[in-house]
Amino acid sequence: MRIIVILTVSVVTTLGKQLPKFMQDLRCPLTHDFKPCFIEKGNAAIPFLAKGVPEYNIPKMDPAEIKHVQLVSTPLLSLNLTGLKIFGLEKLKIVDIEVDLKRRMFRTTLSGANITVAGKYSVNGQILVLPIKSKGHFSVYLKNGIYIATKIDYIVERNGEKYYNPVFDPMDYHLEKVVFDIENLFGGNKELGASVNEFLNNNWDILMIEFGPEIAKIISKIITDIFDNLAAVVPVKYVFLDDPVFKFRK
Ligand SMILES: *[C@@H]1O[C@H](CO)[C@@H](O)[C@H](O)[C@H]1NC(C)=O
Ligand SMILES: *[C@@H]1O[C@H](CO)[C@@H](O)[C@H](O)[C@H]1NC(C)=O
Repeated sequence: MRIIVILTVSVVTTLGKQLPKFMQDLRCPLTHDFKPCFIEKGNAAIPFLAKGVPEYNIPKMDPAEIKHVQLVSTPLLSLNLTGLKIFGLEKLKIVDIEVDLKRRMFRTTLSGANITVAGKYSVNGQILVLPIKSKGHFSVYLKNGIYIATKIDYIVERNGEKYYNPVFDPMDYHLEKVVFDIENLFGGNKELGASVNEFLNNNWDILMIEFGPEIAKIISKIITDIFDNLAAVVPVKYVFLDDPVFKFRK
């Protein structure tokens, strides 16, 4: 039997887009005024961005939703998270930005009083020496976090137009405290479940050595996706109010 595949090729000419409307008035010049401008206007943009901007592929973030994360996948332990909701991103505040114009490096410091990740978990394997196999609801409350996102804007050219290609470092973070609430950890054994939660919460800093980077990756991806999605369609010339390094204005 022969299968004939008919390909409909549509030629799409991608023309550069402007920034979303609400961001056009929030642009900053890349001069010594950049820092105070970015802190003010960046903070003004966050609640709008958090509502989502479908035309730019920016999903809503109040809360952000993620279907499935394989948090740990080793021969000893499999830990999946599903139906994740990340609360509190819309209340993030930009508190500092450091700029190195030569390298086009931007290091943004954000603070978030309460970022809470909630959803379902499914675990199978061994933690320390305890065999564990269970599933249920969980939440992780990240109290008074400072999140530091560092990116370098490289320049790429497409269709004769220059675009930024933002490349991010792994996100750095400091937390005052982490509170875990993991239901049904040892099936019906409520007492054991409660004491394990207590143990986790008393040792959250040790636990975060293992799980912190993965949790940071989840939050970081939500933030970096915004920049990636904007940079993909908005040419360099529409991003900053004035760019002394790259004058692409006609
Ligand atoms: C943190 O945010 C979550 C989700 O919005 C909320 O349920 C929880 O009560 C908040 N915790 C504190 C201590 O404010
Ligand atoms: C986690 O997800 C993977 C891929 O979907 C699956 O193979 C694995 O069995 C899951 N582990 C648990 C503990 O549910």
